[in-house]
Amino acid sequence: MRMAVPCAAARRSAWARLRWRPGPGGRSVAAAPGPLRAAGGREVPLTSRRYPVQRLPFSRVSRGDVAFFERMMPGRVVTDPEELKPFNVDWLRSVRGCSKLMLKPQTTAEVSQILRYCHERNLAVNPQGGNTGLVGGSVPVFDEIILSTLLMNKIISFDKVSGILVCQAGCILERLSECLEEQGFVMPLDLGAKGSCHIGGNVATNAGGLRLLRYGSLRGTVLGLEVVLADGSVLDCLASLRKDNTGYDLKQLFIGSEGTLGVITAVSILCPQKPKAVNVAFLGCQSFAKVLETFTVGRAMLGEILSAFEFMDEKCMELVQRYLKLSSPVAGSPFYVLIETSGSNSTHDEEKLSNFLEEATASGLATDGTVATDERRIKELWALRERITEALMHEGCVYKYDVALPLGRLYELVTAARARLGPGASSVLGYGHLGDGNLHLNITAESYSRALQDAIEPFVYEWTASCGGSVSAEHGLGFKKKQFMHYSKPQQAISVMRRFKAMFDPKGILNPYKTLPSSP
Ligand code: FAD
Ligand code: MLT
Ligand code: ZN
Repeated sequence: MRMAVPCAAARRSAWARLRWRPGPGGRSVAAAPGPLRAAGGREVPLTSRRYPVQRLPFSRVSRGDVAFFERMMPGRVVTDPEELKPFNVDWLRSVRGCSKLMLKPQTTAEVSQILRYCHERNLAVNPQGGNTGLVGGSVPVFDEIILSTLLMNKIISFDKVSGILVCQAGCILERLSECLEEQGFVMPLDLGAKGSCHIGGNVATNAGGLRLLRYGSLRGTVLGLEVVLADGSVLDCLASLRKDNTGYDLKQLFIGSEGTLGVITAVSILCPQKPKAVNVAFLGCQSFAKVLETFTVGRAMLGEILSAFEFMDEKCMELVQRYLKLSSPVAGSPFYVLIETSGSNSTHDEEKLSNFLEEATASGLATDGTVATDERRIKELWALRERITEALMHEGCVYKYDVALPLGRLYELVTAARARLGPGASSVLGYGHLGDGNLHLNITAESYSRALQDAIEPFVYEWTASCGGSVSAEHGLGFKKKQFMHYSKPQQAISVMRRFKAMFDPKGILNPYKTLPSSP
C-alpha cells in the first residue's frame, strides 16, 4: 500500500510539532557488575543445588596441580576464595560455581601449556572473558578451573589501509573502540557490556549487539582466529585476508561455540571507517504495528545511512527512569524506537533523516520525538535503550529470553507471556534489535521461583518454535538454555555438533555442561 506523502510545507510543520526537549541525563554504559548477591541480598545459590546436574568424573584440583601452575605462571594463579568469588558468579546473579582455581595466562604459549596439562590430568576448564554472558556459560558449574583472558589484552597490529585489527582475545571491547577511534575507525560491533566484555568472549558467543544491522555478524567481520584446542595444540587460522577459499572455514566452528571447542587466544577482525556523520532519532509510537511501519518506511527512506533500529516498550522506559534516574525527552507512548543513521556527509544525512521524520510524523507513525546530532546527546539517547539490562536487575530476579522471530509477530510473544503470567510476575517487557528480528523478552520478579520459571519455560520456547523462530538469537545457549536447543535445531544437527565436540575435545574438558544438551 502506498502511503500518502504530504507536501513539503505540511511535512515540515508536522515534524516541527514534535516536542524538542533537552536530552536525558546519563553516562555511557559499561556493564558495571552489581553486588555479588541475588535478589534481597541473598547469596546466589550454587548451580548444582538449583539445577538437576551431576558432576562428571573429572579429576579434582590437587596441591600438586596448583604448584605446577604457580611454577609456570607465578603471581597469576588465584586460589583465594574471596578473590575467586566474582569469577564464580554470573552477571545476572543467577548461577554460581565453586571453582577453587583461576589462571591468568598472558600468552598463547601459556594457554597451550595449561590445556596440555589439564588434558593429561583430566581437569575441566571454563574459559572466561569479561563474565558478562547472559546464559550462564561464563562461570563454572562445579569446580572447573577458570581460565581467564584478563591479561591477554595486547593489540598485535592494526592496518590503516585495510582496517584489519589483530589482537589478543582478552582486549576489552570498549578499549579497542577507543584505540580505533583515534585512527578514524570503529569496531564492527557494539553492546551495552562493552566496558567489560572481551573480544574473545564476543567471538565465542557470536555476540550481535547494536551495530549488526549495519556491519553484519561476527561471522562476516571476523577474518581469522587463533585457537588453542583441548589437548593444548595451537590452531593458527589468524588470517588477515578478506578472501580466503582454501578449504573449510574452520574459524566458523569456534565463532559461537561458547568455549566448548577451543580457547580463542587471538582475533583478526575487519573494522569499518568511523562514520563522519551520526544522528539519532528517538520516537514515540502508539502501537507495535506503527513501530513496524516506521521500520519499513525508515528502511526505504534512509537506505544506506540507516545503522540501527532498536525498540523498547513503555515498561522498559518506566524502569530506566525509575531505577537509573534517566530522563527521557520523549515520554507517554506505549512504544519507543531509536533510529541511528551513520554516513559520510552530514548535510546529506540530515536532509534524509529530516524527510523521513516529516513523513513519519505526517502519516501518524510517530507521535512524539527528538533528534540528536552531537555526541553527548546521542550517548544520552542510546543510554535509554542500552541500560535497560542494568535497570532490570533492580527489580530482583530477571528471567531473560532472547529470541529471533518473524518481524510481524515479534511483540505478540510479550503480550502472550503477559496474559499467561498475570500478577505472577512483577514486569513482563520487551525490547530489542528490531532491525535484526531480535526480541528480548524479560520477566522480572522479586526473587527466583521455580513455579514462575516453569510457567515461562517451555512456553516461551514452544511459542517461538511454533512460528519458526530461534530460541537464542544472540546470547547463545550456555548452561541455562542448552536443553532447549532442539526447539531450533533438528536432532541430526545436534548429533553432528556432538561429533565435532568429540573430535575437538574427546575428554570433554572444555566448558562441560554448556551449549550441547545433556544426553537423554
Ligand atoms: P564471558 O561472559 O566471559 O563468556 C561468555 C562465553 O564465552 C562463555 O561460554 C565462555 O566460556 C566463552 N568464552 C569467553 N572467552 C572465551 C575465549 N577466549 N575462548 C573461548 N571461549 C570463551 N550480547 C549480545 O549478543 N548483544 C548485546 O547487545 C548484548 N548486550 C549486553 C548488555 C549487557 C549490559 C550485558 C551484561 C550483556 C550483554 N550481552 C549482549 C551479553 C554478553 O555481553 C556477550 O555475550 C559478550 O559477548 C560476552 O563476552 P565476555 O567477554 O563477557 O564473555
Ligand atoms: C541488549 O540488547 O540490551 C542485550 O542483548 C542485553 C539484554 O538482552 O538484556
Ligand atoms: Zn541484545
